[in-house]
Amino acid sequence: MSNFFITTAIDYTNGAPHIGHAYEKVLADVLARYHRLKGDDVFFLTGVDQHGQKVQQSAEKQGVAPQEFVDDITAKFRALWDKLDVRYDGWAATTDDLHKECVRANLQMLWDEQDPATGQSRWIYKKSEGGYYSVRQEQFLTDKERGADGEFGPEWQPVEFREEENFYFRLKDHKKWLLDFIDKRTADGNPFVVPDFRVGELRNAVGKLDGDLCISRPAARLQWGIPFPESFGAGFVTYVWFDALVNYISFVPGHDPHGGTRSRASQTSTGDTATEGDGRAGAHPSEFSHWWPALHVIGKDIMIPAHGVYWPVMLKALGFADDEMPTLLVHGWWNISGAKMSKSLGNVIDPDALADKYGAEAVRYYLMIGIATGQDADFSEEHLIQFYNRDLANDLGNLLNRTLSMARKYLGGRLSVPSEAFPPPYQCAGWKNYEETMEMFAVHQCIYIAVGAAGYCNQYIEANKPWSLAKDPSQAERLNAVLYYSADALRMSAILLSPVLPKAAHGIFDQLNWKMELSPQATSPEGRAPARSPSEGHAEVRTREVGRAGARPSERFRLADAQWGGLPDGHQLGAPTPLFPRIEVPKEV
Ligand code: MSP
Repeated sequence: MSNFFITTAIDYTNGAPHIGHAYEKVLADVLARYHRLKGDDVFFLTGVDQHGQKVQQSAEKQGVAPQEFVDDITAKFRALWDKLDVRYDGWAATTDDLHKECVRANLQMLWDEQDPATGQSRWIYKKSEGGYYSVRQEQFLTDKERGADGEFGPEWQPVEFREEENFYFRLKDHKKWLLDFIDKRTADGNPFVVPDFRVGELRNAVGKLDGDLCISRPAARLQWGIPFPESFGAGFVTYVWFDALVNYISFVPGHDPHGGTRSRASQTSTGDTATEGDGRAGAHPSEFSHWWPALHVIGKDIMIPAHGVYWPVMLKALGFADDEMPTLLVHGWWNISGAKMSKSLGNVIDPDALADKYGAEAVRYYLMIGIATGQDADFSEEHLIQFYNRDLANDLGNLLNRTLSMARKYLGGRLSVPSEAFPPPYQCAGWKNYEETMEMFAVHQCIYIAVGAAGYCNQYIEANKPWSLAKDPSQAERLNAVLYYSADALRMSAILLSPVLPKAAHGIFDQLNWKMELSPQATSPEGRAPARSPSEGHAEVRTREVGRAGARPSERFRLADAQWGGLPDGHQLGAPTPLFPRIEVPKEV
């Protein structure tokens, strides 16, 4: 069993969730479920990014306190993840006290670590810098904001020159290290960024790096953030990215916000003090290092500079060794007719309304099959309906319905294990291809493997015509074999599809009357999940509190069960009920 720690970007709470947010969380959920399917110990962390200027302004506009404002939007995100069956283990909300403590402890550690040559902090310095400031928009302006005439437009006015003192985090000193690190990971066959076509993009950006990162904002212009520790002097709030990125460590089970990362790094897993060396490298306590390092699932817009530049340098500063650096899984974007979704264009797709209209499983299915991980795709309801009808209503639903109906009609629903004279219709050999494809995050191709197997079985039924075999008593063995293999193929397709369609997979298992204790893997009483009757539905037991990952009862689906011959001799199938009713195309779509 291995450990799998997966995170997503934490979403800004200045607006309701849209389909892009939903895509990322479902993608991470599918990968987490796949690892649970393999029997890995999984911790899936997601959450919300609640601080910053935009939230402060939106809350002011509505005349509510920022905390009230973010609580309201946070509730919308959580309700959506429940509706879409996004089953996370840890919830990262940046206004959580635990996180605030962690951010402040990290700042303090970085501030306290002296460069022996200067006697100053090795990582953070204070300086005063001047720039043009938009009083209307409450932000500093760069040349990007200048119009064609070289002036700042009326939307920024009044604009004034302001001198401001802030704290800066050293980035450019680490440029060579970062380039070498990126190259080494690529050379080792374990690229820092996947899909690896983005590595070049990141390398170029790092090559151009020539500045440091301003990590504070004067409290006079931003109050809604984490205050700097008092030792920095009064009146500074943490820049939102320096706050948000830290969620990836502050919510890891076993993390001690009081100890901070550096003190963690100097402890061994047994609690003994490790050989200090430069005081940074060392073993993390066992629970933290059980999970770390992470796979960070993020969108292409936040790879540069936040996750590809700031974050590795921050981790380095916090004492993480090169082999403790995470991996970035960078996904593409859902667009609308080739254009970005935006409130001003009025083309934002609401996943909540979509799930109400078509069902959560149809939305999950489309989000996973309609895009190749790493690439962009165009969102269209018409495609959602087409994919659903073609794959689920036709291929899978049809196989389920006809197999159960015929087994009931011709064999009273009871199946025998076929003799060697009747081999299975195709080889599955442990579904190696499925595993390899999933390890490369190509979820859409994995779906094709699972649904393709059902499609193939439909052809197998057509070729063998059970309705004709049933008329000839001398074909009884063949009739049983065809229906046995069709039912067993459905069981396997349900397992392979369970990361994407957890409810439908439970539905198929229920109709097949497949119980956990029938699994040859269920050898020990602890390994067995309680048997579920169809009436129990498919409620999943969730453990949501941080630090409780892995404490679930056994999963109902196991990749190891995806082999021919799983249905025992004399197995009694359940009754067919339509699982994927066709979606009729409404006129306006
Ligand atoms: N709060 C930051 C992330 C901090 S992570 C430490 C942020 N939030 S966001 O709400 O703007 O975006 C959250 C995620 O949604 C990002 O990974 C982003 O790429 C993703 N998406 C936003 N729009 C998207 C699409 N249209 N399509 C797919 N994903 C997109 O950035």
